[in-house]
Amino acid sequence: ADVPVITIDGPTASGKGTLASEVARRLGYELLDSGALYRATALAVQQAGADPADAAAVAALAAQLDLRFEADRAFLAGQDVTESLRLEETGNLASKVSVHPAVRQALHGLQLAFRRLPGLVADGRDMGTVVFPAAPLKVFLTASVEQRAARRHSQLISRGIPANIDSLLADLRMRDERDQNRAVAPLKPAEDAVLLDNSGMSIDEGVEFVLEAWDKRR
Ligand code: C5P
Repeated sequence: ADVPVITIDGPTASGKGTLASEVARRLGYELLDSGALYRATALAVQQAGADPADAAAVAALAAQLDLRFEADRAFLAGQDVTESLRLEETGNLASKVSVHPAVRQALHGLQLAFRRLPGLVADGRDMGTVVFPAAPLKVFLTASVEQRAARRHSQLISRGIPANIDSLLADLRMRDERDQNRAVAPLKPAEDAVLLDNSGMSIDEGVEFVLEAWDKRR
C-alpha cells in the first residue's frame, strides 16, 4: 500500500521536533526524528574516540548504529542516551559528521524503514528534498535566528540547564551556515514545499496549519 508521508524540514531550534511529534500524534502516524540518527552517530563517534573528519570511520559507525526508541527514551547499544542525545554539544558534533556523503548514505535505509502504515511524519533537514522526495506534503519552517535562540534559551533554562543567549545565537548561526552550505543535502526548501514562518505562532497554531494543509492535499 502507499504509505503517506509528511515532511517537516527546517533549521535548528525552529520547533520542527515539537511540531512533527504533535502532528504525528494527532494523525496516529509514525514519527521519524532524523536529527536523532545524526546525533546518535555523533555519540557513537565520541564513544569510539573516532575522528569526526574521518568520513569512512564515521560512516562505518553509522552503518552499525544500534539505536532503539522505546516509550520516549532512546537507547544506543543498549545504553540510555535520551539526555546526552539532546545536548548542544551533541548537536554540534552531529552537524560536523552529517557533512559526509558516506554518512548520509549509511543512514538513508534506516530512515526509509520508518515509513510504515498508517503514515509517517519525518522531520529534519533533507526529508523533503532527498529522503522522501515524493511526499505529498512538505513543510519548510523559517523562524528567525533570534527567535530560535530565544526559544532554545527558555527551553534550557526551564530544564535547569544554564544557558547564554549570545553564545546560543553564535552556535545557531554557525550550525545554519554549515547545514546550508554543505555540498550534499544542504538545508533548503524543496521546490514544492509549503513555507511556514512560525515565529509569532503557538505550537497549536503550527499544528493546525499543517493538519489543514494535509486535509487539502489528500
Ligand atoms: O535537528 P537536529 O538539531 O537534531 O539535527 C542535528 C544535526 O544533524 C543538524 O545540525 C544537521 O547537521 C544534522 N541533520 C542532517 N540531516 C537531517 C537531520 C539532521 O544533516 N535530516
